[in-house]
Amino acid sequence: MPIPDTGVLPEADPDTLIDSPHLLPQPADTLLVPVEELPAAQSSPDTVYRRVRDELMLDGNARLNLATFVTTWMEPQARHLMAETAEKNLADRAEYPQITAMEERCVQMLARLWHAPHPERVRGCSTTGSSEAAMLGGLALKRRWQARRRAQGKDVSRPNLVMGANVQVCWKKFANYFDVEPRYVPMEPGRYHLTPDTLTAYCDDNTIGVVTVLGSTFDGSYEPVADICLALDGYQAATGTDIPVHVDGASGALVAPFLDPGLLWDFQLERVASVNASGHKYGHVFPGLGWALWRDTEALPDDLVHEVDYLGGSSPTFTLAFSRPGAHVVAQYYNFLRYGFEGLRNLARQSRSTARALATQIAGMPPYELVTDGSELPAFAFRLAPGTPDFTVFDVSQAMRARGWHLPAYTFPAPCQDVSVLRLVVRTGFTAELARLFVSDLAQVTAQLRVPDPRRSIAAFRPAAAT
Ligand SMILES: Cc1ncc(COP(=O)(O)O)c(C=O)c1O
Repeated sequence: MPIPDTGVLPEADPDTLIDSPHLLPQPADTLLVPVEELPAAQSSPDTVYRRVRDELMLDGNARLNLATFVTTWMEPQARHLMAETAEKNLADRAEYPQITAMEERCVQMLARLWHAPHPERVRGCSTTGSSEAAMLGGLALKRRWQARRRAQGKDVSRPNLVMGANVQVCWKKFANYFDVEPRYVPMEPGRYHLTPDTLTAYCDDNTIGVVTVLGSTFDGSYEPVADICLALDGYQAATGTDIPVHVDGASGALVAPFLDPGLLWDFQLERVASVNASGHKYGHVFPGLGWALWRDTEALPDDLVHEVDYLGGSSPTFTLAFSRPGAHVVAQYYNFLRYGFEGLRNLARQSRSTARALATQIAGMPPYELVTDGSELPAFAFRLAPGTPDFTVFDVSQAMRARGWHLPAYTFPAPCQDVSVLRLVVRTGFTAELARLFVSDLAQVTAQLRVPDPRRSIAAFRPAAAT
């Protein structure tokens, strides 16, 4: 399969956005600014700018980072808008009513994209990312369960949340921070995400909800949301217990609507109470933006919404953070208007076809074999065929790092800890030329690793966590 060119514009030169002569020769004091404690004296802006910029050069090159789902490329116009609105605080709703209106319009666009039967009844907000959105989704589930149980005079001290062992760490945090027992449905050999088969064995009267992931952080696969809802329908018929579903669509909620229109996963399913997505993943905004939407006011209890008036006017707030950059909402609004459905579909399609083409090539490169093939999220996991001598995926990751690529290697949770994979995420900006260079580097690195090296120690490389 040929690797398509994403056809994106070249990077904007950040120097044109910043009015600073940082390339001019600098005074000798540049290196003398102490950095381990607050400097006693001030320095000139140019000196410090140059110092900080030089230090940042040691960070990786974001475009070569194949580990993250988070946006590393935006159009120059969107970057300009973000720079122009950098001082705007989303919490100052009375001061910036227009950003508030943009946020609400984005919520309405998402509500329609996710087939809310009554978009006007949807409640939603922007967040700092999917993690914050997940906390809010989990809290709403917990409050609804508590209210229901209290009305029945029942105990509310032992809530639990059911999810696959493949959930992202934000759900472990939610359970930890908000005193909810996490119930992880384990993986099995060959089944690396939540499926309906054993799910209901983990549910009971104290289950506040089930989290299903579109798609899994570990391998990019979609969980079968509709089948999971069906299993919960059966559970309700048998036990009378009605368990709502939250869809963690961090990446997939902005991929599936464009590429998998026939897939049932969103508010079309009555059991889906809430959905989160990361604007900073396939919403194509730089890091710092998520979305949380609830089907209606019943799904987001009123007691989670606070009215504040101390910044002038009165406005409802139901995020964990108060002050937040407004620039990210502006950028999301720009992207939605700029690309529209057609443009977002094109971007997602390009990423998926690049991912599939790369997966096909890697499948044909012994000793690698695919765990997933990039046909759901534009991401896939691959591993070494059993019996590969002498080196591990951690060696491959390390060796690719030396070439500048950040290709994470990690191990699946128990009982699948014998599965170690490399995961590759394709985002906008990963061009056909970069894909070609990647395959060539992977082939070279693999050939080098095949030569036995007694100095190479498996223990030297610690597995990275999936993010
Ligand atoms: C499925 C899933 N949920 C939640 C998150 C956390 O998202 P964020 O980084 O936007 O907080 C991620 C991050 O990759 C994810 O893949």
